Amino acid sequence: DAGHYDNGGYEHYLLKEISEQPDTVARTLRGRLDDRFHIAHLGGLNMDARETRSFRRVKIIGCGSAYYSGQMGAQLIEELARIPADAEPASEFRYRSPVVEPDTLYVAISQSGETYDTLAAVQELKRKGGRVLGIVNTVGSAIARETDGGIYLHAGPEVSVASTKAFISTAVAFALLALHLGRVRDLSPADGRRICEGLRRLPEQIKEILTLEDRIRELAKKYADSPGMMFVGRVRGYPVAREGAQKLKEISYVHAEAYPASELKHGPLALISPELPTVAIVPDDELLDKNLTTLGEIRARHGRILMVGHRTSEAADDCIVVPKNEVELDPILLTIPLQLFAYHAAVALDRDVDRPRNLAKSVTVE
Ligand code: G6P
Repeated sequence: DAGHYDNGGYEHYLLKEISEQPDTVARTLRGRLDDRFHIAHLGGLNMDARETRSFRRVKIIGCGSAYYSGQMGAQLIEELARIPADAEPASEFRYRSPVVEPDTLYVAISQSGETYDTLAAVQELKRKGGRVLGIVNTVGSAIARETDGGIYLHAGPEVSVASTKAFISTAVAFALLALHLGRVRDLSPADGRRICEGLRRLPEQIKEILTLEDRIRELAKKYADSPGMMFVGRVRGYPVAREGAQKLKEISYVHAEAYPASELKHGPLALISPELPTVAIVPDDELLDKNLTTLGEIRARHGRILMVGHRTSEAADDCIVVPKNEVELDPILLTIPLQLFAYHAAVALDRDVDRPRNLAKSVTVE
């Protein structure tokens, strides 16, 4: 209940929670990085090295933003630990009689630890002998109790209905898990060090992104009166686009759709017009040129483009440039400006930012 926590002088809890992310990320990392061996210490997993090496697949489940953070996590695990990983909405997973395998590591994500669909999926997995970890914010919550072990976010209470700091801390927890799994498998000490150092840079870089708030507010005002927005990204950028679209629709009620940029030409390009601007997630990675080509295709259909990436480009109408980290960790940073964008769009449209219509902070019934 919002009444129990101090809003820290911010007009909305959402802005407070966005703004405290340099600290909440530092808390998720605290005591968990080992700079000598370039590994992560995750005592709460309750898994020995042999078990940690035994998994051949990772399946991640969660609802809403937790599911999107799980998609970001799957990408991190595949890249760093080279274990096939994917995410699925817990609500769907538990209804399709999933095959539960002993060499699959199941990971349930939940800020509250009380989401009914996620809890029921965990219980079903356990009934069938699945090994389930939790990535949870609320200590002692139902999902924390039902799982075999896990990672607490330590992000502090999240009051605003739309998730921000829990999403980012979950992605950071996944980077730690991926480092942990990777370093007892194929990940080299040099790559382990690169990721450890990248993780340590995150809080300062988030601070830098927060200084862009005035500019993001102007951009939100400029774009918020559109009837809808398209969010596109590829591979690492796709979960960023999905979470960006989710934030916008939840709190501003502007229709937003997320698509892999590569799939635009197979359908949604038909929607592109000056009335449907696109937010394009364009990191400096191996897909940069392909992404810029897609922007050209949107431009050719008179679509307006707000690019979020590591450089400016003539292919876009507006650009938000964020600091660069390691490619695997960049999605975490690219998400932050989209939180501010959604927040300021909602404020510009005079929405009930912390308590959006029809939504609950935690859905504890089916
Ligand atoms: C609700 C909230 C979302 C949240 C989802 C999962 O739908 O409105 O913001 O992402 O539940 O919540 P959880 O507590 O399980 O992360």
